[in-house]
Amino acid sequence: MPIDRVFVAGAGLMGHGIAQVHAAIGKQVVLYEPELSRAVAGRERIADNLEQVVAKRRLAAEERDTILDRISATDDPRRVADAGLVVEAIYEDLDVKRGLWREIDGLAPVDAIFASNTSSIAIDDLAAAVGPERRPAFVGMHFFSPVPVMRLIELVRGTATSDETAATIRSLAADLGKHVIVSADRPGFIVNRMLMPFLAEAMRAFEEGVGSAEDIDAGAKIGLNHPMGPLALADFVGLDTLGAIADVMFDEFRERRFAQPPLLRKMLAAGWYGRKSGMGFYDYSGEKPAPNPGL
Ligand code: CAA
Repeated sequence: MPIDRVFVAGAGLMGHGIAQVHAAIGKQVVLYEPELSRAVAGRERIADNLEQVVAKRRLAAEERDTILDRISATDDPRRVADAGLVVEAIYEDLDVKRGLWREIDGLAPVDAIFASNTSSIAIDDLAAAVGPERRPAFVGMHFFSPVPVMRLIELVRGTATSDETAATIRSLAADLGKHVIVSADRPGFIVNRMLMPFLAEAMRAFEEGVGSAEDIDAGAKIGLNHPMGPLALADFVGLDTLGAIADVMFDEFRERRFAQPPLLRKMLAAGWYGRKSGMGFYDYSGEKPAPNPGL
């Protein structure tokens, strides 16, 4: 069934990007946060992103306005009532996500697809929050940041996910211009299974004094041709998000490579969440990121 209306829960780093790419292909999008100011801020972030594309003369101003007109910000979960697809991109916490899905279950159309953008939590654990009749329509749809730029979607099938649901997500991903990879329903899926030990090892190397943050990042950028070094990438994704992903993965695998490095714990305790808080492995208060003087 074609999807015309998309309800995106969560207007943060991932949610605003997910809303943007759907609106850009003609979907009507409702961007939901329980606090209206956060939903509005997410929509403004989309306006800023589109403005940059207009400035590069790759998008006409009228087209930008059309895309923005398709997105409405709300704090009312009942706006899910006419959605064909719900994408959940809220904080990486099982109980918080389950609470949201339980609420949405009572409000969404019976035939809506429920897709979680979880980076690590098993889809079966989330699908357990909705009624059994919903579970065939419950799926993992994991985007990568920045969503408008990154071409990958991890499609994660839970035990009950139907072929029809998977096919609809594949077709939508093709419309979004994204490449789909299919992952088994194991915490961290494919990409974070590889990425998390890499980021954690970079943090441990930094903590042990193997190299400065800038040299560790330059090592990956220049020596491995990565677009960003691991410490800058950790700040970009959000250290709180990475901490939550590490906890989910360590809980499952019980292996040190997935555990939060001690330094990450300390940084989280200090309120250093990376770019979003202005301080992480780098200090973002100046014109250019500089190494965090407190580390
Ligand atoms: N939104 C939209 N477009 C953006 C953007 C954003 N937030 N940030 C950058 N771009 C666009 C720029 O406009 C630019 O577009 P054009 O080439 O068309 O002009 C392009 O991306 C390149 O940007 P810049 O020239 O400003 O900078 P850059 O070359 O350093 O690229 C980057 C920026 C795309 C973020 C690049 O550094 C990169 O690919 N970094 C790695 C990103 C990554 O690994 N993401 C995955 C994180 S893991 C994850 O998301 C999943 C998880 O569960 C943890």
